[in-house]
Amino acid sequence: VLPNNINLLGSSYTRDDYTNVTDRIAALIGRNLHLQKCHPLNLVQQRIVNYFYKTFVNSRQNPQFSVFNNLSPIVSVTQNFDSLLIPENHPSRAKSDCYYINREYLLRAHMTAHQSELLLAGLNDFLMIGDVYRRDEIDRTHYPVFHQLDAVRLRTRDNLFPDGKLELFESGNNTSYIGAQEKQPCHTLTAVKLMEQELKSTLEGLAICLFGNVQFRWVDTQFPFTQPSWELEVFYKDDWLELLGCGIMKQAILTNSGVTDRIGWAFGLGLERVAMCLYQIPDIRLFWSKDSGFLSQFKVFSVDENIKYKEISQFPQCTNDISFWLPNNDQEFSNNDFYDLVRSIGGDMVEQVQLIDNFIHPKTKKTSHCYRIIYRHMHKTLTQAEVNVLHAKISETARQKLGILIR
Ligand code: PHE
Repeated sequence: VLPNNINLLGSSYTRDDYTNVTDRIAALIGRNLHLQKCHPLNLVQQRIVNYFYKTFVNSRQNPQFSVFNNLSPIVSVTQNFDSLLIPENHPSRAKSDCYYINREYLLRAHMTAHQSELLLAGLNDFLMIGDVYRRDEIDRTHYPVFHQLDAVRLRTRDNLFPDGKLELFESGNNTSYIGAQEKQPCHTLTAVKLMEQELKSTLEGLAICLFGNVQFRWVDTQFPFTQPSWELEVFYKDDWLELLGCGIMKQAILTNSGVTDRIGWAFGLGLERVAMCLYQIPDIRLFWSKDSGFLSQFKVFSVDENIKYKEISQFPQCTNDISFWLPNNDQEFSNNDFYDLVRSIGGDMVEQVQLIDNFIHPKTKKTSHCYRIIYRHMHKTLTQAEVNVLHAKISETARQKLGILIR
């Protein structure tokens, strides 16, 4: 039986029907890779912070942006969703996608969760950097904990229109379009256009600062907390890679935090993505490695030094499949439940889990899933015998905890 409380970062929380933080995930809270000296995520973070420090200075040549890189990853549902106008029924709130501590608290799913509180504190230009938690598939580019850098910049009417002739706000139903995307009715088109220009040139500058002379493109998108919204993609290794999401902040977020005279832009970017490209790191699990063979490669004097990661060694993969019938009420089963279970037992010895077959029996109407689990340790060769023990434990635990029937 589970104890009724869960202890995280020195506080105790009451478990309820929403609790789904696993011990393995809990053990990663507080590692703060982005704060670890000479860690690749720390190098990337510093490069981005430096870019903002030098790009935006006040009249006394001091940086305008404040940096918050030590905010607690435990946030309320209000912070993570409500304060950002994310609708009650939005898929990103699902239990199957988030690590809930209970119905009231969760491990933040994005750094944007802190936007409102910092606005309320009176800040105008700030960066928020930290670890975020999402239940997801398992492969070389996904890990349930990763790191994001978010930014907010607010501008007043004086900032945008120094000659005092134009306005930030209007009370019309002016349906002006920017590309395919409507502006918010409360904003003047000129103000939005100026904000869009500053946002895009700032982020293009950032992409060039990080990657040098890359090709990039803007893609229209949607977020509940910005409008209009865009994604910036860069062309990397024969493919378009989504680097960040951004947009003009929903005005209601500002007014709910007591800001009535400013308009803002915001963006959020994943640090692992950037570091994997920049240093050619092939597998996202490596960021969590304590092996000096990995970490020593990032001991540099300057964060701008050119580093190319050299693989410590490539140990062989070991592949085992598992097939089972889902519980009779297959609504109860989510693929992420199985992924979390595999992670809890296999840990970082699991490189990938793929759903390779999914069918419904014509007579019994039962659903069958077959998953391929690819085992590979980062620092040693796994024997088939070791893998068999793990694999058997995974199937036995899945039988007990998920109510599935092994085939
Ligand atoms: N929070 C968004 C994400 O995690 C990124 C984002 C931040 C988009 C701020 C717009 C503005 O994908």
